[in-house]
Amino acid sequence: MKEKIESILQEISIFSAQNKEQVEEYRIKWLGKKGDVTLLFEDFKTIAPDQKREFGAKLNELKNKAQEKINYLKEHFENIEVDSSSTKDLSLPASPITSIGAQHPIHLVKNEISKIFEDIGFTLSEGREIEDDWHNFSALNTPEDHPARDMQDTFYVQTNPEIVLRTQTSSVQVHLMENNKPPIRTISPGRVYRNETVSARSHCQFHQVEGLYIDTNVSFADLKQTLLYFAQRFFGAETKIRLRPSFFPFTEPSAEVDVSCSICNGSGCTICKHSGWLEIMGCGMVDPQVLGNCGIDAAKYTGFAFGMGIERIAMLKYKVTDIRLFFENDVRFLKQFQSA
Ligand code: DAH
Repeated sequence: MKEKIESILQEISIFSAQNKEQVEEYRIKWLGKKGDVTLLFEDFKTIAPDQKREFGAKLNELKNKAQEKINYLKEHFENIEVDSSSTKDLSLPASPITSIGAQHPIHLVKNEISKIFEDIGFTLSEGREIEDDWHNFSALNTPEDHPARDMQDTFYVQTNPEIVLRTQTSSVQVHLMENNKPPIRTISPGRVYRNETVSARSHCQFHQVEGLYIDTNVSFADLKQTLLYFAQRFFGAETKIRLRPSFFPFTEPSAEVDVSCSICNGSGCTICKHSGWLEIMGCGMVDPQVLGNCGIDAAKYTGFAFGMGIERIAMLKYKVTDIRLFFENDVRFLKQFQSA
């Protein structure tokens, strides 16, 4: 009896029907009045009482398997019938697409910034979001215990203090200088993370674009002219820029870049806090120490770098007052950036 059960089980598992008549044929073969499974239930009556328990369970399982397979195949062929009997006219033109997706505003701004720099010879590059301490901090003149580390609250990966979620795209600079010979002229957009409380003005994840230009004779004047070119293409031809002295560990000298407020044209409004200026990025001449850390001969080469937050620029461009909107995926917000 055991072998018989096994062989019917095997037959059920490999059985596949060509049409619904064949399904019915097998239903009768297995479960009909004189079907194989039904007959086994007859044999069961003659089995020794101490074996009834074991075989009873097996037989029930066999019956269920057969029934399940039949049901499944029956349904399958019924569905096919419904499909082919419906009166669809396949030659009709497709119905027009009435709603198309929108590009995310961060994506739009990232592309716009990238395009402007690509037009003046910058290549596009990318780093990694999970970074080691060297590339995110130490090579950038920010050794452990350096007070500048406090400026950027860091997420560490698991409990390894050597591995971080990058806090800045400046880390890409290090990879680029380690792996390429000057001239290097590239921009690197990407996501960064900081352990900050989420509010309307700050988030624990955001995006930056990093710029780097290393060559012989690169000067601060080149930096200023490049940034003016960018500001006027992005914010309008009348835009002015101003550079205020600042500090970053990896640049010397360093500056903060302001653009004249594109909302009030410099006359003063709530967005620019009545100053007429909007701060948009940090920049500076790459510190010779950083060049050396990355294997670039600081006696021969100089360079500039800059970094800006994409959300900040997008908020100014689209007059968005809450950074959280960029991460909530609320379609009422996103569909406003519908492309044509
Ligand atoms: N990494 C800086 C930040 O996240 C921004 C920055 C400042 C980047 C000056 C630079 C730079 O390349 O030169 O605040």
